[in-house]
Amino acid sequence: MSDGGGLTRRRFLIGAGAVAAAGIAAGVAVDTRNASGNAVPLVSLPEQPTGLPIRQHAWEQTLTPDEFGNPTPPRFDRLLLFDVSGTATPNSARLLEAALRELERSYPWGPSGLLFTAGWSPDYFERVLRISAPIPRAKALSDFESPAIDSYHLCLHLACDDEDRLEAVAQGLISKLAPALRWRETRTGFTGAGLPAAHQRVSGVPSGDPVTRASPLFMGFKSALKKNQASEEAVTISGGRFDQGTTMVVSQMQLTLDSWYRDLSYRQRVALMYSPQTTPAQVAKFTTDAESNPGQLSQAIRKYGLIGHAQASARARVNGKPVILRRDFDTVDGGVAGLHFVALQRSIADFVATRTAMNQSGAQLVNPAITDTVNNGINAFIFVQRRANYIVPSRSDRSFPLLPGREAAL
Ligand code: HEM
Repeated sequence: MSDGGGLTRRRFLIGAGAVAAAGIAAGVAVDTRNASGNAVPLVSLPEQPTGLPIRQHAWEQTLTPDEFGNPTPPRFDRLLLFDVSGTATPNSARLLEAALRELERSYPWGPSGLLFTAGWSPDYFERVLRISAPIPRAKALSDFESPAIDSYHLCLHLACDDEDRLEAVAQGLISKLAPALRWRETRTGFTGAGLPAAHQRVSGVPSGDPVTRASPLFMGFKSALKKNQASEEAVTISGGRFDQGTTMVVSQMQLTLDSWYRDLSYRQRVALMYSPQTTPAQVAKFTTDAESNPGQLSQAIRKYGLIGHAQASARARVNGKPVILRRDFDTVDGGVAGLHFVALQRSIADFVATRTAMNQSGAQLVNPAITDTVNNGINAFIFVQRRANYIVPSRSDRSFPLLPGREAAL
């Protein structure tokens, strides 16, 4: 259970910082050729439509509120993962920026058009720009997971309500960006009533179609009620080089729901999802808040020997508010039920604190009926297989942030 990190990793970061300082002092050489020796073409840069939000992650204003005012997430998502091809040049930044502006010109900003963010990983800063990264590399966050850490440079998160459009946009981007960005992987998914039910005949979900048509997610509960989410404002970085940006953690999880649906009653699932003090009758009346009082967590552990996921996660709140904004979606990538957990937060530390709260790894010391994965929220049903951290700059900085010479090219 290690990120391959520890002291060695820290030493490397110190080393990278030194290289960065040397690079700045010497002036970083900017090559206009990519790996195969071909220059990235100088494309024309379309005008950007006016009125777009400064923040890439400003999606909420465009989302249709449900009957209680909770924003309805886009129904379909794609994560496109790329590496920078060869040496990054100002022309590379211009190529990406032109492609993204083309999307903004073609589709209105919103789920009926298109929403997207561009996020950059520590590998981009350290390996491509050779400067120290503004965010840490991802790592395992519990004793019961050992995720592979992705090293892709760029993650484009695309979302809208029309899956055919999303697929066409994804294909278009992969080919347009090819001179500057080598496409490595696409992850796909969906969220919203009807979609998990329609995709449930996969490994990880038991037979008998247990996922109801009303379920927006495979596990059968509605997530992301307003008060259980951080606001976009709260996850926005204020000041510094990434002002108006945010950070993003992308985890790929496998779901194993056989015992979730076969061995547990609905009441038991409610207890594990929210808290042992929460009843199905209360769940039926949730509007903007899944009230699973984090103040009652120690009672849950001592008296009930059972932890609810929402109650435990809410222990990470600051001033009574959650610190991560979840934009996760279900998937059947690889023919297996899963979840792409996309979380936005002001700092990666906010995610680490939330995941640590969700793990409740010390509960066993108080009540041995609870272990890391027994009677402990949804920990037994989700397996984190891959994880990566990204920084999502403001819209004007989204294409090859901090690349020397980019401003002149845009
Ligand atoms: C299959 C995976 C998951 C499902 C189905 C799920 C579902 C839920 C549900 C139904 C709630 C109740 C409140 C609401 O959002 O309306 C909730 C709350 C929450 N979950 Fe999850 N969750 C999952 C994974 C995770 C993970 C991996 C994390 C973070 C590392 C997380 C963090 C949170 C947080 C922070 C809250 C809100 C707590 C608060 O109110 O302060 N969840 N989740």
